[in-house]
Amino acid sequence: MKKTYSFDEIINRKGSNCVKYDLLDKLYGDSDLLPMWVADMDFKTPDFIIQAIEDRLKHPILGYSIRPEYFTESVVQWMKKRHNYSIDPEWVVFTPGIVPALNIAVLSLTQAGEEIIVQPPVYFPFFSAVTDHGRIMSENQLKTENGEMKINFGSLNKNAKMLLLSSPHNPGGMIWSKKDLKKLAEFCLTNNITIVSDEIHSDLMLFGNKHLPTASISPEIENITITCIAPSKTFNIAGLSSSVVIISNREMREKFTKTLNSLHIGMGNIFGNVALEAAYTKGEQWLAELIDYLEENINFAINFFEAKIPQIKVIKPQATYMLWLDCRGLGMSNKDMRKFFTDNCNLALSDGRQFGRGGEGFQRLNLACPKSILETALESIYNNLKQK
Ligand SMILES: Cc1ncc(COP(=O)(O)O)c(C=O)c1O
Repeated sequence: MKKTYSFDEIINRKGSNCVKYDLLDKLYGDSDLLPMWVADMDFKTPDFIIQAIEDRLKHPILGYSIRPEYFTESVVQWMKKRHNYSIDPEWVVFTPGIVPALNIAVLSLTQAGEEIIVQPPVYFPFFSAVTDHGRIMSENQLKTENGEMKINFGSLNKNAKMLLLSSPHNPGGMIWSKKDLKKLAEFCLTNNITIVSDEIHSDLMLFGNKHLPTASISPEIENITITCIAPSKTFNIAGLSSSVVIISNREMREKFTKTLNSLHIGMGNIFGNVALEAAYTKGEQWLAELIDYLEENINFAINFFEAKIPQIKVIKPQATYMLWLDCRGLGMSNKDMRKFFTDNCNLALSDGRQFGRGGEGFQRLNLACPKSILETALESIYNNLKQK
């Protein structure tokens, strides 16, 4: 592939009010750590998105704004082209982020006191989306088989009203096999459980893997599913709060939209609209090059761990830019592990315990950064372990 973009440049983000760097002191007690935690990338937002925003800025008024038809059309085309999933423009509903969408789904389609399935270890805002609204969390912890995380079908709760699914999975970086995804969705169909399929990482498929939108499995499954997608992770524009949900079932869509409108958060912002449309119409080449770069980083890290730090076990991710590190072989308490990575290695990682049950003894490492930074981070772990 002819390369147009470089991802090697080190860009100083400190002082730009970014969560990743400018919250280090508050969260980790040291503003000079190498931040490899929150899921955003240290790469430039692509030029065609910046350009689209600059073009919009040529008009001097930034008043209330609507989303034109081509906004929705860009989502429809992207889903078809990228994931071979045909959707109707009517099904597309704007939300100012996926976490808001999860909360709105819970509020609009379940009642207080009802049970909602989550499968830890998983992206932790899934938990608060349930408990903040007086719903009951039905935890179905993922099990580990041959070093891989798998769905525990035997303990799924038939009385639940909703399932929150991370697909591909954060923090594990796995994709669910078609067989397992179908089995899970059919369990939901049989038991009248609404599926909220958070597919925010689905454009970041690695090593030739393909994403299967849950809703595309069958029209019946589509009818009980809310699909959540966004260009935020893929194109590094999380600060623009622009995402969409896809809901084919009219009644569910109306309930969802009613809650969204009652909160008055459905307008979004001009730049988020412009950026989403640019990403989905112009993003293919950049994304292909990004994925190449991420794969190189992942291969490099996996080889490094295998050769030099075998105490830490890593499963090769099939999607996303996170490595889920099994650090139990280090034999450290949670407190000592945190101290080791921050005070000794000078790194800010995400503590696995944040992701709930099954996360103890794990750390999540974000490697969407220039390779030279990744090298520094891995060398630091290696050198500090040597001295132990
Ligand atoms: C699975 C998952 N869902 C949602 C989000 C965040 O969504 P948003 O920033 O659009 O609220 C993340 C961010 O890491 C994520 O990993």
